[in-house]
Amino acid sequence: MNTVIEQRQARLLAVDDDAHVRNLLSRWLTDAGYLCDRAANAQDAWSQLHQGEFDLITLDIRMPGCSGIELLKQIKQEYPDVAVVMLTGEGDTAVAIDALTSGAHGYLQKPTEKAELISQIRKALEHRQIVITNRMYTEALAERVRIQTAEIVSAHDETIHRLIRASLYRDEETGDHVRRTGEYSEILALRAGWSPENAKLIRLAAPLHDIGKIGIPDAILRKPGKLDAQEISQMQAHAILGAHMLSDSSLPMLQMAHEIALHHHEHWDGSGYPHGLAGHAIPEAARIVAIIDVFDALSHDRIYRPALPAKLVEATLKNGRGSHFDPVLLDAFLSILPAIRAMEDSNLNGGNGLVR
Ligand SMILES: [Fe+2]
Ligand SMILES: [Fe+2]
Repeated sequence: MNTVIEQRQARLLAVDDDAHVRNLLSRWLTDAGYLCDRAANAQDAWSQLHQGEFDLITLDIRMPGCSGIELLKQIKQEYPDVAVVMLTGEGDTAVAIDALTSGAHGYLQKPTEKAELISQIRKALEHRQIVITNRMYTEALAERVRIQTAEIVSAHDETIHRLIRASLYRDEETGDHVRRTGEYSEILALRAGWSPENAKLIRLAAPLHDIGKIGIPDAILRKPGKLDAQEISQMQAHAILGAHMLSDSSLPMLQMAHEIALHHHEHWDGSGYPHGLAGHAIPEAARIVAIIDVFDALSHDRIYRPALPAKLVEATLKNGRGSHFDPVLLDAFLSILPAIRAMEDSNLNGGNGLVR
C-alpha cells in the first residue's frame, strides 16, 4: 500500500535558527537514510518548500521573525501532506500541544537524542503515508461511484429514449414533437419554481405522455377522416393505457411519467379526461405537459393540417386560460414564450434531436 514513500527516499527539511542543531539533525537524519535539506529560518524554509517536494519538516518553535507555530499553520494550509515534527525548548509544553492541535505529527524536546528523533520521524512518516493512502483510496472509490452512477443514469435515459422511439412507429407524432415536449416542459417547470433535479425528471418523463397510443388499434389511430363518438372514446383510452404501462414503478421519473400519461388530457375546469379532475387535483407535471403538448402540436405541421400562425397559437392558449389550462402555469408559459420561440428558430437552423 505504501506506494509513494517506499519507492523513493523520504526527503526532509530541518528548520532551526541554531546552526549547530540544524547540522546535527541533518547529519543524524542522513545517517538514518533520509535526504535532508536545511533551513535557518521560516523564510528560507518557505522558499525551499516552494521549490522541492518534501515529505517531512522538523521545525524549531522559537525562531526570530516568523515563529515555528505560525510557519506550521501556513504549511498545513498550503502543503497539508507535508508531515511536521516540532522541536521545543524546555518549558514549551503548552506550545507543543498547540502545535499538535495545529496539525503537527509530533514534537521533540531539546536537547533531543538521536534514537528518539529517528523513531519520531519514522512514526510521523508512516502516519503521513497512511493518511495519504486512505485519501487516495477514498478518492478512487468516489470516482468509481461517480463513473458507475453516470453509466446507470445514461443506460436509464437511453432505455427511455428507445422506448419512445418504439412508440413513434404507432403514432402520428414526430420525434421532434416528443423531444420538444420534454425540453419545453423542463423550462416551464423551472419557471414554475421546480428544482433542477425535478425539472430534469419532467424532461425525461414528458416525452412518454402518449405512450399508451401503442395500444390503440390502427383502424382508429390511422383513420384519415373524423372519428365517431365511440372511436373518440377508444382513442381517449390512450391515457389509461399509458398509465398502465408506466404504473407501479419505484423510479421517480417513471412515477412522474405515469402521472403525466394518465392526466395530460385533464382540464383545469374538470372537463377533461380520463377522470375529469379539476384544478390542483391534477398533478402539476400533467398540467405543465398539457400546455406544452397543445402549444407544440399547434405550432407545427401535422399530416392533416399545417402549423398555425404564432399569434393564433398564442390566442388559442390564452383562450384556454382557466378552462383548459392552469391559469398560473399558463401565465408562466407565456412569459417564457419568447425564449421558446428563439429555441424553435435555432432548432430550425440545425438543432439537435433526442429521438429522430
Ligand atoms: Fe395524449
Ligand atoms: Fe403529444
